[in-house]
Amino acid sequence: MRTKYQFRNVEVREEGSGPAVVLVHGYPLDGDMWADVSRRLSPKFRVLRPDLPSRRDTPHPSQPSIREYASWIAAVIDAAGGRAGVAGFSMGGYVLLELLRARPETVAAAAFVDTQAGADDAAGRQARNRAIFTAREMGPSAVSDGMIPKLLSAGSRGRPDLVARVRAIVRRQNPNSIENDLLAMRDRADSLPSLGAVSVPALIVVGSEDAITPPAKAAAMAQAIPGAALVSIPGAGHLSPMEKPDEVAAALSGFFEKALR
Ligand code: MLT
Repeated sequence: MRTKYQFRNVEVREEGSGPAVVLVHGYPLDGDMWADVSRRLSPKFRVLRPDLPSRRDTPHPSQPSIREYASWIAAVIDAAGGRAGVAGFSMGGYVLLELLRARPETVAAAAFVDTQAGADDAAGRQARNRAIFTAREMGPSAVSDGMIPKLLSAGSRGRPDLVARVRAIVRRQNPNSIENDLLAMRDRADSLPSLGAVSVPALIVVGSEDAITPPAKAAAMAQAIPGAALVSIPGAGHLSPMEKPDEVAAALSGFFEKALR
C-alpha cells in the first residue's frame, strides 16, 4: 500500500483503498490533525490528507486566499482521479465551500466539520488584523499557542497526551502559514447565500462544546443545505477529529459509504 504520493514535488499523505476521500485541515494546523480519523477510514476508503499551501513543501502563495487554497485542493483531487468525497475542518470547511463554488465537479460528497459558512464580520476582521500584527511583532507562536485552549473542550484540556500532540502540530507551522491563513480567512467570501445551491450529499459534524464555530452555526448550515444531515459529537470542542476520532470517523464513514457507493 502506498503511504504517500508525489504531486508537483509535494508529498500527499495517503492510506487505504476504495473510493477517494480527501480530508482538509484547519488553522493553525496541517494534515496530521486528521491522522486518527484517516486510520479509521482507511479500511474502506482511499484517504488523502494534503497540507494546504504555505506549509512544508506546499506552494507559498504571494497573495494567500481561500480561493487559492481551494484551487490547490482541486489540483490534488485532479491528480488523484478527478472526483472525491471531501471533508473540511474549520478553515478546511471554508476551502470546501469555495471548492463547491469554483470546481463543483471535483466534489462527490461534502462533509463540513466544526466550521461555518458566514464571512468574518467587522469585529472578526479586526481580530484577524490584531493577530497578524501580534504574529509579526512577537512571532507566530504568540498567536498560535493562544489557539490551543480554544480548540479543545474542557474535558480534552485535561488530557496531557492530546494537548501535547496538538501543541506539537501547532508549533511546527512556519511563520508564513500563520499569517497567510489569517489573511485568507479574514478576506474569505460569505458562503451563506450559496448553501442552497449545494447539490451533493452533505453532512455537518460539530463538537457539542465547539467554542469557535458553535453548534448553532452548524445547525444553520444543516438547515440551509438541501438534505444535509447534522451530527453532534458529545464532549468534543472545536478540534473534534483529534478529540473524538472514533465518533467523527464513524459519522464520516457512514456518510461517505452511502454517498460514494
Ligand atoms: C480553524 O480552526 O481553522 C480556525 O480557527 C477557523 C477560524 O478562525 O475562523
